[in-house]
Amino acid sequence: MQVKIIDHPLIQHKLSLIRDIRTGTKEFRELLEEISMLMAFELTRNMPLEETQIETPLTTCTCKMLSGKKIGVVPILRAGLGMVNGILKLIPAAKVGHIGVYRDHETLKPVEYYCKLPKDVADRELIVIDPMLATGGSSVAAIDMLKARGARHIKLMCLVAAPEGVNMVNDHHPDVEVYVAAVDSHLNEHGYIVPGLGDAGDRIFGTK
Ligand code: URA
Repeated sequence: MQVKIIDHPLIQHKLSLIRDIRTGTKEFRELLEEISMLMAFELTRNMPLEETQIETPLTTCTCKMLSGKKIGVVPILRAGLGMVNGILKLIPAAKVGHIGVYRDHETLKPVEYYCKLPKDVADRELIVIDPMLATGGSSVAAIDMLKARGARHIKLMCLVAAPEGVNMVNDHHPDVEVYVAAVDSHLNEHGYIVPGLGDAGDRIFGTK
């Protein structure tokens, strides 16, 4: 199982709060945004820098700035939306694409229903986001959709994963690095991650 667990103490603390059944919609959203921002900090650790001349009030010096790598953030609808703003706080110039997939009840296969991406998707470093990496079906389908449209550099960022989901993404897309705050025990018979945090979409949007 190839996965990077971001175990910063602040993330782990906030993750425990977000798991708690007593955490309401407002706090859930705020925590998800904060965790997403902290995770994005780690994901962007190796972004390339270039040297540039800066004039300070005292002198001119050689400083470092990001070397213009273009980032794209791609939430998987709908729960992925809850992670967008946290990432944009750190990378405000990132473009945002959206992908919608649902699971057909009969075939159990993911079906694409929405895809709107930045035009230059092939040239961007893409961060696909979805709080819950459960079976891995939606993530694999989303990454398939991105690659079919030319994307070449993709990372997947989730809050909580089941081992089954990580393995599924690893098997189908070994080039995609998977970042999570935790890998939980297993999936239950309804496809929920255990212990998990319940239905992330319902908890973000208050639709339970
Ligand atoms: N999606 C969720 O929102 N929660 C899970 O536990 C699994 C899939």
